[in-house]
Amino acid sequence: MADAQKTATLTIDGQDYELPIYSPTAGPDVIDIRKLYGQAGVFTYDPGFTSTASTDSTITFIDGGKGELLHRGYPIDQLAGKSHYLEVCYLLLNGELPTSEQLEDFESRVTNHTMLHEQMMNFFRGFRRDAHPMAIMVGVVGAMSAFYHDSTDISDPWQREVASIRLIAKMPTIAAMAYKYHIGQPFVYPRNDLDYASNFLRMCFSVPAEEYQVNPILARAMDRIFTLHADHEQNASTSTVRLASSSGANPFACIAAGIACLWGPAHGGANQACLEMLREIGTVDRIPEFIARAKDKEDPFRLMGFGHRVYKNFDPRATVMKESADEVLELLGVDNNPVLQVAKELEKAALADPYFAEKKLFPNVDFYSGIILEAMGFPTSMFTPIFAMSRTVGWISQWKEQLSDPQLKIGRPRQLYQGETAREYVDIENR
Ligand code: CMC
Repeated sequence: MADAQKTATLTIDGQDYELPIYSPTAGPDVIDIRKLYGQAGVFTYDPGFTSTASTDSTITFIDGGKGELLHRGYPIDQLAGKSHYLEVCYLLLNGELPTSEQLEDFESRVTNHTMLHEQMMNFFRGFRRDAHPMAIMVGVVGAMSAFYHDSTDISDPWQREVASIRLIAKMPTIAAMAYKYHIGQPFVYPRNDLDYASNFLRMCFSVPAEEYQVNPILARAMDRIFTLHADHEQNASTSTVRLASSSGANPFACIAAGIACLWGPAHGGANQACLEMLREIGTVDRIPEFIARAKDKEDPFRLMGFGHRVYKNFDPRATVMKESADEVLELLGVDNNPVLQVAKELEKAALADPYFAEKKLFPNVDFYSGIILEAMGFPTSMFTPIFAMSRTVGWISQWKEQLSDPQLKIGRPRQLYQGETAREYVDIENR
């Protein structure tokens, strides 16, 4: 980090404290409060981290006001339009776009790690059939540390590299197997002659009784969904991965922690929650009722797939996803599906409503991704697992970056304690 060019002065009880200010290459300046407690004996208070930079990073940048998302400096719309998921993975992990030799080598390394240890099948079979695929993924990814002992030593750069490749390569296999188990069909092994997205589609939709032909337009749309979810700087699940990793936990345990965090409906679970909401709305004439509920402070209901902590103008991923949704719906001839009709009308109604405009609530990536995945034939329970497999590369890139930081410290937030002060224990007969 460059030396501070500016300082901020904080005055507490007449005493001044000089705090260094660092300027980023893009985005707001940050005030360095690391020494504040030592010097002034106070903590800062920021639940929800709305004003806190938890780390420095060179991977992803978001300008929420402009609706800009850059990976290593490259805009997401260019990556989604001209690149493909594995190339974006290389970029996120290594900082630069690969040459054709580097890309070929990377793709071949990923492709050669797609199979799972055969004994891991037993893990799947131990789950109830009706288990949510995310529940299976949290368990199975965590269990990888019990199978791949040769890539859990985080102090060894080679082992870190192998763990990274293994996670990117095996995540589609794990997600597809969780799906197959959930619907009671036999597992389909990966095929290494297919590209990443086509292989995933085949593992999900093919059955031994008949061969599955991958439609290249659907494979392209799938790849784009992976690309659009690849990384998103210090969001809740990424911060969870970093916090887990700060204690020195192994990579599989850290990524399992990220998957658990992603599952929630305010984060990656929003794509499932959004489709369920569209189904609950059911018909276009009920949209005003749900818009009214979303605006009612007494009602906890929110329009799922709307709003974002950082984007306050538009979500650039949603723009690309919407184009992709239109393409897929046209190809599949399902643009008059009732859920999709409700989605289109709800989007129009919300965008025209002053409540959503004033609060800067726009459709986010999860609004459109659910629509495409539904049209492709995925059940809603698979939406978040697909987000998790796409985001794995982002989690790993951030994990690797964190481990290469010589100043790495265990993450240990403090608190504003509001409970009882010390008091004497009261024996049970006297309470
Ligand atoms: N529907 C109705 N009102 C909303 C919505 C919504 N979807 N989102 C925010 N608001 C209102 C909220 O009630 C609050 O109003 P007020 O200021 O009057 O109290 C205001 O907008 C600000 O909301 P907030 O909860 O303080 O904002 P946040 O930055 O903490 O939350 C969010 C961001 C994404 C969690 C939230 O917008 C939300 O719950 N959206 C629905 C879930 C969703 O789609 N999540 C996916 C996010 S994108 C993918 C990802 O990150 O995983």
